[in-house]
Amino acid sequence: MNFEYKEPLIVQEVAPRDGLQIEKQWVETEDKIALIDGLSACGFTRIEAGSFVSPKAIPALRDGDAVFNGIRRDPGVIYVALVPNVKGGERALAANADELNLVMSASQTHNRANMRMSCESSLAGFGDVVRLAAATVSLNATVATAFGCPFEGQIDEERVVSIVRTYREMGITGITLADTTGMANPRQVARLVARVLEHVPAADLTLHFHNTRGLGLANVLAAYDAGARRFDAALGGLGGCPFAPGASGNICTEDLVNMCEEMGIPAGVDLQKLIALSRTLPALVGHEVPGQVAKAGRNCDLHPAPDYVRTI
Ligand code: COA
Ligand code: ZN
Repeated sequence: MNFEYKEPLIVQEVAPRDGLQIEKQWVETEDKIALIDGLSACGFTRIEAGSFVSPKAIPALRDGDAVFNGIRRDPGVIYVALVPNVKGGERALAANADELNLVMSASQTHNRANMRMSCESSLAGFGDVVRLAAATVSLNATVATAFGCPFEGQIDEERVVSIVRTYREMGITGITLADTTGMANPRQVARLVARVLEHVPAADLTLHFHNTRGLGLANVLAAYDAGARRFDAALGGLGGCPFAPGASGNICTEDLVNMCEEMGIPAGVDLQKLIALSRTLPALVGHEVPGQVAKAGRNCDLHPAPDYVRTI
């Protein structure tokens, strides 16, 4: 473990996309817009604001076009859209997304469950999106199930590295390694991040962890220590892929930012504002959310000592 933490950690907020995609209660377009504008005010430089996928696959995000058109564009924020195919690319460009995030799983089975096509078909579609984007927007591509698949189990690291190289050869700059159902462990993360950083500069690499088995922040530290600097996280710890059995929330943004602050790692996000925004989530989604710091408060939020202490 390297205790000389100095380099900033960049948080990409994904609650408006990964967070809301799995919610059963419909969240009104204006409430999605208010959430994204609230997040913009917290200091994020990157927000995944929605997806342009089939409305039958993800009804919760079927209003992506209206959401992108309704948000207040903070010039300091890159608003990212998840895109599965060329039709999604066209919709995202029409909605003025700043960056397209193309998603394919390392696991053929999960890609068929999630995207209803083989990995080869996904890649062919990505080629079309790259041509469509014609260098007018930035491109990122995600390797989902990079650390394990709920259908196939272990995923060969060689395969993940090879997909990353394919993405880069296609002209896609940004790369995300996603642990879709929280199957990664810190040693595995350190190993794969080190390997991928041989092909991708740290500035272009994002790690996307779910806290399904409680290892989310441990995996962040392992990745940070191995040289990764950019991480996805969702306000309140919302999130999950509806096409992966047992999926649960992303790592929680305010819990991650709290950890960074306590360790002296700059994250550039206002923790107090985040906590206040996170506390509005249960009313928005209709249930408690997993995040812990919004419930416990920060370390510096002290309590008055009980009266009897003064008499002892
Ligand atoms: N946006 C909106 N509609 C789309 C679309 C897109 N990006 N892509 C396809 N569609 C529509 C088609 O127009 C067609 O509509 P119709 O039935 O009214 O004619 C319908 O969806 C089926 O199109 P098809 O190309 O046959 O898609 P499919 O049924 O094989 O599904 C995907 C493929 C990729 C569109 C779908 O599986 C999907 O959107 N998956 C994303 C899942 C997701 O977001 N998971 C979580 C994030 S990782
Ligand atoms: Zn996810």
